[in-house]
This record gives sequence, C-alpha cells and structure tokens, in this order.
Amino acid sequence: MELTNNTYRIQELDVTEICEQFGTPLYVYDAEKIIHQLRSIKSAFRDTDVKVKYAAKALTNISILKLLKKYGSGVDVVSIQEAHLALGAGFAAQDIMYTPNCVGFDEIIEGVELGVNINLDNLSVLEKFGQKYGDTFPCCVRLNPHIMAGGNYKISTGHSNSKFGISVYQLPQIMEIAEKYDLVINGLHIHTGSEITETDVFLKMAEILFGIARDFPSLKFIDFGGGFKVAYKEGDMVTNVYDLGLKLSKAFTEFYQSYGRKLELWVEPGKYIVSEAGYLFVKTNVVKPTPSLTFVGVNSGLNHLIRPMMYDAHHDIVNVSNPTGSPKIYTVVGNICETDTLGSDRKLSEVREGDLLAIKNAGAYGYSMSSNYNSRFRPAEVLILNGEAKLIRRRDTFEDLLRGQIDVI
Ligand code: LLP
Repeated sequence: MELTNNTYRIQELDVTEICEQFGTPLYVYDAEKIIHQLRSIKSAFRDTDVKVKYAAKALTNISILKLLKKYGSGVDVVSIQEAHLALGAGFAAQDIMYTPNCVGFDEIIEGVELGVNINLDNLSVLEKFGQKYGDTFPCCVRLNPHIMAGGNYKISTGHSNSKFGISVYQLPQIMEIAEKYDLVINGLHIHTGSEITETDVFLKMAEILFGIARDFPSLKFIDFGGGFKVAYKEGDMVTNVYDLGLKLSKAFTEFYQSYGRKLELWVEPGKYIVSEAGYLFVKTNVVKPTPSLTFVGVNSGLNHLIRPMMYDAHHDIVNVSNPTGSPKIYTVVGNICETDTLGSDRKLSEVREGDLLAIKNAGAYGYSMSSNYNSRFRPAEVLILNGEAKLIRRRDTFEDLLRGQIDVI
C-alpha cells in the first residue's frame, strides 16, 4: 500500500473506494506482493532444486491457494481438511506435504488414500504406519532438533519441551521401526518455529539433518520448514532470505554430493509469503478520551485479528482517511466484550469517528484465525489481482451464525 497524493493505494486502486464497495471490516490482499515474495524465495535458492510448499494455514482462501499454485508453489497442510482444500485448489497430490500433529490414525490413512506426502512426528504413529503400509507407501519423518528458536515461546516448535517432532535423541527407535517394517523414508523434516531471524538457526538444523540423513538411503527431499520473518514495524529484524538461500543451498549441495544423489530442498513459508500482502481495514466507531488514554474503538477486534492479544504481536496501524492530520497517541481497540487491544500507544494522524484505519501485516494468520466470537460476522476478503479488486469471500451473514445449529427446544 502506497500513499500518493494523500491517497492510500494498492496497485493504483484507492483503498477507500475498495472499502466503500465491499464494506468494512475487510481483509484485502495484494496478489502482486504474494507473487513477489514467492519469486524472491525461488531466486534466493536458485543454486539448488528448491520446492516451496506454502504453509496454507497462514491464509487458506482457495483463490490464494490457486494463485500460488499458478506461480509454481506446492503447499504444506496440517489437517486433512487443508489437504482437501489444496486438492480442490488443483494441487497435485505429490505437491502437497501433509504434516499432522496428534491426529487420529484415520486421518493418516485418509492422507495416504489421497496420495499426498505424509510427514509423521510420533514413534507410535510411525509404528502403526509401518504395520499398515510397510514398504508400500513412503513417509517423511519430522524431527525435533532441540533448538529454541522463533519469535516467542508460543510459536517455537523445535525445543525439547515442544510437542512437535520426534526427538533427534530417539533416532535409534526411528531406525528400529524403519528396519522392522522396511519403511521407505523419503524425507526428513524440521520446522523449528515461526519468525526465525538468524540464518544460523537454519544452518544448525541443516547440520543435524545432514548428520542423520546418511542413515536414510531412500531420501528424495529434506524439508527445512517455514518460519522466515518479515518486518512488522520499521527497523524490525527480518530473515535475510538471500543470505539464507545462498548459505543453505551451498551446504545442501555439498551434502548431497557426499550423499551420492541429488535431493530436493523443501521450505514451507507461510508468513513470508502472505503477511505483508494483507491489510485489515476497519472503521472507527468511536473516539473515547478517558482521563488516562484516548481509545479508538473500531468495528473489528480479536475475533478478526487475534495476533496482538494472543502473541503480543505488533501490527502497524495507519489512518487512511486523514493521512496529513496532526499526530496524536491512541490505543486502538475492538468492539468485543473483553479486552481486545489491536495497538497500544500508537501515534496516528488525528482520528475522527468514521475514519478508515488500515491494520498492516494482516495477510498471515489473520482471517485464518478469525472467529464468530460475540456472534459477530467474519469479514469479507478481497484480492487485488491485475489492478482489479475481486471479492474472494463474502462477509458472513446471520444465516452463517446459525448454520449447523440444531434447535432442540
Ligand atoms: N510448516 C509447519 C509444519 C508449520 O507448523 C508452520 C507454522 C509453518 C510451516 C509456517 O510457518 P511460518 O512461515 O508462517 O512462520 N499463528 C502464529 C504462527 C503459528 C505458526 C504455526 N506453524 C502467528 O500468527 O504468529
């Protein structure tokens, strides 16, 4: 989104007009930015056979999935429902990586029936998989490297107390099961967390994976997960994807030369691809000065964007309606009946009731984590594609709130 001649625009389109057309609260995604991010990963890893598996959970809208497919991405899914969505979006089963955690074995069976790549992260599940499929269907193993990394504890998945992955210290048990059932282990996977800024964390993961990989002769790929961080505010640390691509590709090439066969390098970014492409546009319902603060109360809240309350995440906010207004300090809150701060102590151009605000970095884990809490409607979603604003999900209606409910009284 750019400010030109006092007007905020995405791909030349005036965002205020978009919001007038589709109403607020409104999620808007810039397709160009999404494609740009995908391309930049491919270009950073150009020295190797990189396969991008977009982490669908970040933003699951079918049009976004189709867009990414069109530009050559594969997809990472974590539930059988996401697997069905990915197939529905046209992804070939072999381009889908299915990484469930703590699911019933029936969901693994369904994954096999769909023909997607299966990633297992539990010894008992590996044993069941061996009993049922032996060497007839390959699987990947998700490892827990005992590395603490990621933006905060809630989004760190590779440390020793995390529920994810099979500990690298349990490698002997993995080998025992693999030998017992003749398992065809075609991949090794680590996803250590979200918002990892240091290239070194990925290189450390690589060292661990390469050390282990030599014991697995049927590998086709090694998957380094996602977790590339983008800027949420000015001056934020980000993952230097070019540095990462260069160094990881080099280490990877050296590794597979000694492994004796070319392997694919997989990555599963979610935030990196869609975070910055998305905006949540909200309308100011009230401006409420109190003896201590001035609140801006908007027509949204934690039901639409839970990240600030759940992870203390910072999302930049701008006043679209009054870009040149004199700056004042506000606390931006939603209309939900519990504390739902979207941004504390923010310097915004003077906010008047009725003003349109944009909440940035709302593309990843925004709509996909939204809910109908307080029986409010989830927003509509719009994709700006080739200079046109296209509705890709309509706003909820009252019928949606009752859908599925059964009145027994
Ligand atoms: N691969 C696997 C197996 C994952 O579990 C995840 C994210 C990713 C890839 C993509 O991670 P990303 O590149 O988006 O960081 N709701 C949280 C983030 C949770 C991430 C869960 N797993 C947030 O809003 O910060």
